[in-house]
Amino acid sequence: MRRRQIALWRAYVLTEIAPLRVAVLLSGAGSTLRAIVNAKLNIEIVAVLSDHRDAAGLVFAQASGLSALAIQRRNYATKQAFEAAMTEALDVVKPDLIVLAGFMRILSATTVARFAGRMMNLHPSLLPKYPGLDTHARALAAGDGEHGASVHWVTAELDGGPVIAQTRTPILPGDTAEALGARLKPLEHELVVSVVRQIATSRNPAA
Ligand code: GRF
Repeated sequence: MRRRQIALWRAYVLTEIAPLRVAVLLSGAGSTLRAIVNAKLNIEIVAVLSDHRDAAGLVFAQASGLSALAIQRRNYATKQAFEAAMTEALDVVKPDLIVLAGFMRILSATTVARFAGRMMNLHPSLLPKYPGLDTHARALAAGDGEHGASVHWVTAELDGGPVIAQTRTPILPGDTAEALGARLKPLEHELVVSVVRQIATSRNPAA
């Protein structure tokens, strides 16, 4: 009886307390990945995948001892084959959460559906405003009084999935796209970290 109780307890501990398994996909600098790492959350970053072998974020991941892998589009004949390789790599590490942190490729509906409810994206605008690129310049051109960033679940619609959380900053007189983007960056980092922390904590109150 006692042995059975211990077995049940072990199963409970393994399923309930295991840290959130997070995979990060990136294409560039990786400052968002750095912010997640520096926050020292009780999560396990199980993989960092990049579509650019030379992405600074991937280099940082490698130097930090994270499991890091480049999967480059040019090495695959089709988008479908490229995404199949991405999917296979993700399936190996079984992430609970996939964070698109500056991942500059639009994934197909099939791939998105495969990870529905587990894949989120950081986007530099107050969605539903300004999906796509050049968001800072577009907010300025529109004469907006404020700008911001969103973390949202990824669906087949580009930057169109349900918003999880947002951060805001006023647009100041004389702002340029560069200045606005630079001011937003640390807020984006705080936003992502707080969302990942919340998801980790909701699974495991000790996170
Ligand atoms: C962030 O500004 C994010 O909003 C956008 O890409 C940028 C990623 O920056 N999707 P980094 O590569 O994490 O520094």
